[in-house]
Amino acid sequence: MSTRPVKLGVIGLGPRAETLLATLRNFPQEECRVTAVCDIAPERIEKILGIFAANGLPAPKSYTAHRALLADPEVEAVLIPTSWNSHLAIAADAMKAGKYAGIEVGGASSVDELWQLVRNAESFGGACMMLENCCYGRNELLVANLVRQGLFGEIVHCSCGYEHDIAYELVDKNGCMCERGLHNLKRNGDLYPTHGLGPISKILDINRGNRFLSICSFASKARGFKRYAESVGSPVTDFAMGDVVTSVIRCARGETITLTHGISLPRPYSRDCRVQGTKGIWLEDARGIFIEGVSQTKTEIDVAGNPYFSHVWDPVEKFYDKYDHPLWQEFRNNPVGGHGGMDTLSLSAFLDAARNRTPPPIDVYDCAAWMAVTALSESSIASGSLPVPFPDFTDGKWISPPPAAKISKWDLNV
Ligand SMILES: NC(=O)c1ccc[n+]([C@@H]2O[C@H](COP(=O)([O-])OP(=O)(O)OC[C@H]3O[C@@H](n4cnc5c(N)ncnc54)[C@H](O)[C@@H]3O)[C@@H](O)[C@H]2O)c1
Repeated sequence: MSTRPVKLGVIGLGPRAETLLATLRNFPQEECRVTAVCDIAPERIEKILGIFAANGLPAPKSYTAHRALLADPEVEAVLIPTSWNSHLAIAADAMKAGKYAGIEVGGASSVDELWQLVRNAESFGGACMMLENCCYGRNELLVANLVRQGLFGEIVHCSCGYEHDIAYELVDKNGCMCERGLHNLKRNGDLYPTHGLGPISKILDINRGNRFLSICSFASKARGFKRYAESVGSPVTDFAMGDVVTSVIRCARGETITLTHGISLPRPYSRDCRVQGTKGIWLEDARGIFIEGVSQTKTEIDVAGNPYFSHVWDPVEKFYDKYDHPLWQEFRNNPVGGHGGMDTLSLSAFLDAARNRTPPPIDVYDCAAWMAVTALSESSIASGSLPVPFPDFTDGKWISPPPAAKISKWDLNV
């Protein structure tokens, strides 16, 4: 595999672009160079160019129209941390221009825009990867490794979610502050499914021998945003988004997945992960793993004098030394970059695929299936929580089993 620098463009220069660029500054010049940036807002370009200058880096070319950046022959791959209503169309354009597109997380507004993404990936020279950094989280990869080695037995049920109190980021005394705030004001569904669902999908071989069949979603009453908006004197208080949106996904191989979205009530952060098989379980919020025959099972005596079994959690950390994923065995001594190092790993994976023109480890079919949850959960809630079928974006290719060998060390599918 080659190690030449990838010439990178960045489209959308908001706070997420700033953290991605800060992480990229840790990469050696032989791996990547940011040669072009783009934003529709000139003040964002100015700010980013100032950051390049302050770090003694050569100024990239700058554009205010993404198609102009995509026409730049020097740029071979683009990161697209724009807003949710623009990043899929920009990624489709990037692939039409033969580039590798790294899209940020978030859900789709319609199933149609996902079909366009898929068809463009199939028809032109480029490829699309979701920069779902949580797929490279240490615990997510540890558990994937334990599952692949058979320690959990056959997987039966998983859960995941995004539970993070961010009302203060989306509304202030003037009303909704950003596009994400408007999505929550007007829509009711799971708007942010991929941080939890991405890693779980990899563990369940989604699109590689398995697929999502249907989703049923339920929304609680909406109180959290209103409460916060009133407390800061916002003129906008009536949000459509239920405080807790719960979805159940059925998979073709028989597993169920419970998905939770909750961003408007006070609570500590969680991605709510649970992976449960016939022999073992990981529960993120317990920071625990139990594996039959490995973890302790105590025999206790009840008040009537009869024995009963009590399974005991092992702390997740107990498994790091022996079962860390190979990527984390290499990375754990120096986990630099945003989000505890996950950003470094996901960007490395993207750059590796772009450099070698190989299929990305989170491909366009993964993007489509995971992001469809947003549009489909909205449909389910709007129809009184009826089950909604998932489109098969692979056109039947999902029936092939997972590949036998890794494409690269970044591959999450084997
Ligand atoms: N993976 C993570 O951990 C993580 C963390 C934070 C945000 N995100 C994601 O990153 C993305 C961006 O987040 P943000 O907080 O920076 O958003 P933001 O809305 O603050 O910034 C987006 C930027 O994109 C620009 N933009 C919008 N449309 C454009 C277009 N057509 N062409 C060029 N520029 C355009 C806007 O002017 C703005 O500067 C979102 O999808 C968000 O979900 C991911």
